[in-house]
Amino acid sequence: MSTSPPAQDRIPRHLAVIMDGNGRWAERRKRPRVIGHRAGARSVNLCIDFCLDQGIEALTLFAFSSENWGRPEEEVGALMKLFLNALEREVEELGRRGVRIRFIGERERFAPAIQDKMAAAEMSTRGNRRLTLSIAASYGGRQDIAAAARALAQDVADGKLRPQDIDEAAVAARMALGDLPPPDLFIRTGGDHRISNFLLWQLAYTELWFTETLWPELDAATLRRALDDYAQRERRFGLTGAQSLSRTGSGMAAPSDPSAE
Ligand code: IPE
Ligand code: IPE
Ligand code: MG
Repeated sequence: MSTSPPAQDRIPRHLAVIMDGNGRWAERRKRPRVIGHRAGARSVNLCIDFCLDQGIEALTLFAFSSENWGRPEEEVGALMKLFLNALEREVEELGRRGVRIRFIGERERFAPAIQDKMAAAEMSTRGNRRLTLSIAASYGGRQDIAAAARALAQDVADGKLRPQDIDEAAVAARMALGDLPPPDLFIRTGGDHRISNFLLWQLAYTELWFTETLWPELDAATLRRALDDYAQRERRFGLTGAQSLSRTGSGMAAPSDPSAE
């Protein structure tokens, strides 16, 4: 008899998603790439609805990477417009539904109008706890680690921290999402099997799941498949299978994970 908890107990607390494949979706239809980004915005809503339904506590979406600034000006401009529209259109309703919205990444690179809307969205939803939605925008995992290193150096320079006290917890606390449990499950759509400079530190023990489905064609059944697959996995965190089975279940955080709650 299996000692594993039933599948329904193994719902990820924190889901991280690389929303990829918008451009190819449009190109396959002989349409401009921006049409794909527009279609992709619908999948964002679907994914949020799914998380609310499933009782997932945190959802982190990769919307725009540090490297994406290098795309053609026209595409970046169109993405910025979509981003601004989404902030204007969606925030209120998300707030009503108990979603706390936050942004991670170099927000000072965005136009002031976007920065203002980001700050307003965070402010108006800060008391919500049903789902923490973190949008990674102008985000890069290496940049996140560099920023944490900078913050540590500053604390040492200010005499608030001694170098010998810098441990994993001290780093984790200065990384983006430092107040959340690390992602349990990572999903990438679009068929590529890579991290593309997403949450490098935070994904250390995350279960990875990839699908050929392009982001604009995402449906609840695909997300369901990812969750079912996750529920079957044995998360060992470096221990033996027997050790991890004797603990509460595969949804637990690593015993040595400094950012675990
Ligand atoms: C993801 O879709 C959205 C962003 C990176 C902004 P892509 O635009 O990367 O789509 P593909 O990978 O080219 O199909
Ligand atoms: C990752 O997708 C970034 C986002 C989805 C926002 P990319 O399309 O930029 O990644 P690469 O270029 O395939 O590595
Ligand atoms: Mg892509």
